[in-house]
Amino acid sequence: MTQMDTEITAAMAPDKDWWRGAVIYQIYPRSFQDSTGNGIGDLIGITQRIPYIASLGVDAIWISPFFTSPMKDFGYDVSNYCDVDPMFGTLDDFDALVAAAHDKGVKVMIDLVLSHTSDQHPWFRESRKDRDNAKADWYVWADPKPDGTPPNNWLSIFGGSGWQWDARREQYYLHNFLTSQPDLNFHSAQVQDALLDATRFWLERGVDGFRLDTINFYFADKMLRDNPALPPERRNDTIAPSVNPYNHQEHLFSKNQPENLAFLARFRALLDQYPAATCVGEVGDAQRGLELLGTYTAGETGVHMCYAFEFLSPDRLSAQGVVETMTRLEAAAPDGWACWAFSNHDVVRHATRWNLSPQALCGYTSMMGALRGSLCLYQGEELGLPEADVAFDDLQDPYGIEFWPEFKGRDGCRTPMVWELSNHNGGFSTGKAWLPVGQAHLTRSVAAQESDPCAPLHHYRRVLAFRRAHPALVKGTQTQTQAQGDVLQFQRSHEGQTIFCAFNMSDRPAVLQMPAGEWRAIGTELGGATADALGGVHLDQWQPCFALKR
Ligand code: BGC
Repeated sequence: MTQMDTEITAAMAPDKDWWRGAVIYQIYPRSFQDSTGNGIGDLIGITQRIPYIASLGVDAIWISPFFTSPMKDFGYDVSNYCDVDPMFGTLDDFDALVAAAHDKGVKVMIDLVLSHTSDQHPWFRESRKDRDNAKADWYVWADPKPDGTPPNNWLSIFGGSGWQWDARREQYYLHNFLTSQPDLNFHSAQVQDALLDATRFWLERGVDGFRLDTINFYFADKMLRDNPALPPERRNDTIAPSVNPYNHQEHLFSKNQPENLAFLARFRALLDQYPAATCVGEVGDAQRGLELLGTYTAGETGVHMCYAFEFLSPDRLSAQGVVETMTRLEAAAPDGWACWAFSNHDVVRHATRWNLSPQALCGYTSMMGALRGSLCLYQGEELGLPEADVAFDDLQDPYGIEFWPEFKGRDGCRTPMVWELSNHNGGFSTGKAWLPVGQAHLTRSVAAQESDPCAPLHHYRRVLAFRRAHPALVKGTQTQTQAQGDVLQFQRSHEGQTIFCAFNMSDRPAVLQMPAGEWRAIGTELGGATADALGGVHLDQWQPCFALKR
């Protein structure tokens, strides 16, 4: 090869590091766009909306599970890892979706739920037959205690014991979620191999990466030791609502096992065989989430990113809260990489959870757009959608049905996307939607916001464009975050570009002290203050300030 050939090849090579600082748009396929009129969103519907997604300026989509499933947990209970549930379409539809997304420069990440399967998966059907079959140890089976009770005190997140009795084997099996979601036994090399085969299947189909469901639940303690009690002062409700006794245990043995690192290394080695595949692992742990994030993303042998729960917390995020999270993360994972989110399909939408004014909503978006890490946006948050009210009779989520009314479950954040005002289903479906469209959402539809330059949709687009235009915000280093009262500030730097970022995270005006040096205000299209003058800069409520070092 001549030198020119080498240069051309290098220029055409995919960017292996594209995920670093990327913005990922999460799609909950049941509720995005229905193309058939059956009231349930599908893959063709997503493909139809790719131009809209691309118009946001995101780098990738993450599609929540669309695999074959009895839908007890709406797709997070997989009965065939290598096919599309007919409700969502076909493998051909998936290929067309990938092609359409790639055509618009949008990468595609899919959601692999490896920790457990559905109880309808052929692996589990075989495993539960008797104690001697070829897959007898593919799940976590254990004998009862002499008094017939479960083998230990582990709890399910969705309520009750983490163990379910099976009369065929006269044994219990482990389920961290629903009883119909038995946990796979990752201590078995065959199980690992089978899961890696499923992963390879999708890599060969051209996906760019994976969101990995509950990666810290993959392994359970081999000796099945009891979890210790967690004293009330150490409990918090980041992972499960406070009314859930799951919060009363320290999950030392039911998850977060050291063997996980070796499996993640195998997973990473598989991804590394492809030009630019990536993954983000969901780490659900109320006490040690950031530390696990550090361990799992350190070096080149774990996952590329971990999905952090810190900004999904029920408590409104303050400037001091961001500093505490960043300081802990820096200590736990100086070279680790987080993926931040305010909303997703499991939590109350942040507009409602934090009771945000329009200014506050935009302020949080500007702040997240400047933080070191990758970002996940959840469909509809760009419209500033509040949580929808779903009546008990319309509830679908078994978690909500179990804990109602103290915890209403996850249906309120899963109602259909609203595209138009004129149609009673917001343009989502011509049929009866599987969850009712939030009536308060209709006036916030995409069509309504397109024609209003002050709408959140345009603010999201401006924030993402601003981020993309400044490599320091995408991939740069970040100085120690600081809070001066309610004003959060830090600097990001990359290849000679340094950007000072400050955010007034309160409903009151504030005065910002600029750091020493010469700065030029940028980001005024996001409502950023003019920071040309040194000394005190006045910030209105929720106003940011961005300045480029001269
Ligand atoms: C997903 C949930 C799901 C659970 C079990 C998660 O954390 O985000 O929606 O119910 O895993 O798979």
